Amino acid sequence: MNIGPYLLANPVFVAPMAGVTDRPFRMLCKQLGAGYAVSEMVTSRRDLWDTLKTSRRANHAGEAAPIAVQIAGTDAQMMADAAAYNIDRGAQIIDINMGCPAKKVCNKWAGSALMQDETLALQIIEAVVAACVPSRVPVTLKMRTGWCSTHQNALSIARAAESAGVQMVTVHGRTREQGYKGFAEYDTIAEVKAALRIPVVANGDIDGCEKARDVLAYTGADAVMIGRAAQGRPWIFREVEHFLATGTHQAAPLVAVVRRQLLDHLLDHYSLYGEFTGVRSARKHIGWYVRTLPGGDDFRGRLNQLQQCSAQLQAVNDFFDELGEQMDRLPAATEYADRAGAFRLQQQPPKLQQKYERAAA
Ligand SMILES: Cc1cc2nc3c(=O)[nH]c(=O)nc-3n(C[C@H](O)[C@H](O)[C@H](O)COP(=O)(O)O)c2cc1C
Repeated sequence: MNIGPYLLANPVFVAPMAGVTDRPFRMLCKQLGAGYAVSEMVTSRRDLWDTLKTSRRANHAGEAAPIAVQIAGTDAQMMADAAAYNIDRGAQIIDINMGCPAKKVCNKWAGSALMQDETLALQIIEAVVAACVPSRVPVTLKMRTGWCSTHQNALSIARAAESAGVQMVTVHGRTREQGYKGFAEYDTIAEVKAALRIPVVANGDIDGCEKARDVLAYTGADAVMIGRAAQGRPWIFREVEHFLATGTHQAAPLVAVVRRQLLDHLLDHYSLYGEFTGVRSARKHIGWYVRTLPGGDDFRGRLNQLQQCSAQLQAVNDFFDELGEQMDRLPAATEYADRAGAFRLQQQPPKLQQKYERAAA
């Protein structure tokens, strides 16, 4: 599929996750098969653009095109200015955040809170599209199904966004009220897809090959976007892409290969954050890799004591070397999912389940 002039490698995308999908992680995901990646959200507040946090989030050095930057805010003019600012710094696609459930973005209710105020949401969309037209930069929108179960207006916002010139819509199948609780539902995503001509991306609780296939089939969406299931498992994109293309599963990755990829990721991570912040912020990534592996819990405990890049690298190297003596490959994806407490995503939401039961009958 395309976003404007950009032909994407495949329909399996990595979701923007603040504090996770920084430039090193996005590059790793793309290298391991993600067809598309968007930056973490960047604030539309001009007074914060020069902060270390925002400049790191706006770092795209070496990243493969298209460079997509997500912006967040509540004021149409500020959002338009933020779009122009990021285009000047290399953004080739601008994504508007109407999906983040955090109470405050930019000191005001932003992200998915904008879905409560359709007039303001549309003003923002129109202003951002107008700011991007001169440089022919496509604008995309990421949102939830609505504010709460009684206010589900994804369809109406998606239609208005398409009319305003937005070129792709991603829907996370939860309301803002749900946060990350409960299950994502895919009926609203299917409705949005059926109503729009532009590409629609399905997001929420997609944690593996079969789930990706089923969500694509159920919603008719053009692509899937994977967030939490890629934490510590960035090769999921290659696995899903391979499965969608061939219907067969790839072998789980070799421990030695994962060790090398993680060490390279850490080096890139330190180069962006420096030693003090880099060692600390890398702990969560390492923790996600090892959480289901033998000895992983003990290792995470030890990891928190290490303060230097060299010591952290050595510890990771040793952990995976020892693991490699017990197994050639990481546990297969299903085994991995069963063992990871965080992966409660395998269950099918009721309507999807019913559809498959009907189809099987
Ligand atoms: C730690 C974290 C940070 C997130 N940050 C953002 C963000 O900056 N922008 C955004 O649009 N969504 C953000 N999200 C939402 C994800 O993009 C995605 O919609 C959500 O996690 C559901 O997908 P999943 O079930 O595959 O994780 C974030 C999610 C998580 C878990």
